[in-house]
Amino acid sequence: MNRELLITHASQLVTLAGPARTRVGAEMRELAIIKDGAVLARDGVIVAVGATSEVEPQAAVDALHLDAGSSVVMPGFVDAHTHPVFAGTREDEYEMRAAGMTYQQIAASGGGIRSTVRRTRAASEDELFELGKIRAGWLLGHGTTTVEAKSGYGLTVDDELKILRVIRRLNDETALELIPTFLGAHEIPDEYRNKREDYIRLVIDEMLPRVAAEGLARYCDVFCESHVFTVNDSRRVLTRAKELGFGIRLHAEQLSLSGGASLAAELGAASADHLEWVDQAGIEALRQAGVIAILLPGAVFNLGLTRYAPARAMIDAGLGVALATDFNPGSSPTPSMQMILSIACTQMRMTPAEVITAATINGACSLGCEARLGSIESGKQADIVMHDCSDYRQIPYFFGVNHAVVVIKSGEVVVDTRGDASTASR
Ligand code: NIG
Ligand code: FE
Repeated sequence: MNRELLITHASQLVTLAGPARTRVGAEMRELAIIKDGAVLARDGVIVAVGATSEVEPQAAVDALHLDAGSSVVMPGFVDAHTHPVFAGTREDEYEMRAAGMTYQQIAASGGGIRSTVRRTRAASEDELFELGKIRAGWLLGHGTTTVEAKSGYGLTVDDELKILRVIRRLNDETALELIPTFLGAHEIPDEYRNKREDYIRLVIDEMLPRVAAEGLARYCDVFCESHVFTVNDSRRVLTRAKELGFGIRLHAEQLSLSGGASLAAELGAASADHLEWVDQAGIEALRQAGVIAILLPGAVFNLGLTRYAPARAMIDAGLGVALATDFNPGSSPTPSMQMILSIACTQMRMTPAEVITAATINGACSLGCEARLGSIESGKQADIVMHDCSDYRQIPYFFGVNHAVVVIKSGEVVVDTRGDASTASR
């Protein structure tokens, strides 16, 4: 569509203008806010950003005009770690944890990821797509315009390919952008419990080449943890993935300190995710290798744990930090980046400015999309969200509230909960 989009009168236009690279240290607190700001987009791309008085005269007479009415306007969230394609839910385990069982105990007794795998295998591609569509709507509705999306609930060649095809279809047929990651090494499935080596070989020799040949994933991830894949297992899988051209991500140091962070550094991973147990040496290794730490406090919160990733030490050390939901049916069933920002502020002592940076430009950097996504600047894609508050700090402060009222993807309004009167042509 060629119609221009003009947004005016943002109380705060949170642009995050700055270098198209990971923001570190004090840079994470610089949001480049414009008061009474406006944005103009043409063909889905931002062409002007500034004060309303400067930008408004540049718009075509027939531009679609959204008056922000003194609300906050900021980039769409880039949620760089999700597991959105699965069948079945695990509220039974949620209840078991309330009674005192741990995530690992539930996994060892046959529940956890394997429980979701059984139900995901039994679901058809169309069923998974329909479920995925609902979740894409949740994510968009909470202000997220791009997600990284992992497979990992199939764990056979065919079921992993099925999930990755669903991710591709969701990307093509919904407004949400999904960047696919292959996570065949998510768990040892039921039929391989006594032959782990055979499963690792299946991932390396059959799954990875098929996924690469079909062009179904940009990244490869492994759940590196003593009860699933060791550092050595993870190195084997990820080394083969690198040879095949995949970028690397890694679930590291989530439930124990096992050396995943150094492995991510050694392999030059795009991200190391979770990191609740990382030590100072791990932080330093990640920083030196330029690996982005993706923190997932929703999983800590939802599992009823108290050990959050040491975000302050990371930021103070100059390590690039991003935040993501880890949206999945077991450890973090939330699609809301806003909720994640609240937890990050209160439990990890990140400032509101730092969490906004972590949830936008730094997430985009971890996905190699920083030239196109994560900030409101001329030349970037118009992925923009209007939040119903006048100060960006209220987004985490009023927690449990969905502030996102208008969501724009590539210059198109894809969510607008404000009613007809608020959107008008000029
Ligand atoms: O990131 N850690 C591994 N994967 C998910 C949990 C998936 C599940 O429990 O279904 C996570 O927390
Ligand atoms: Fe995860």
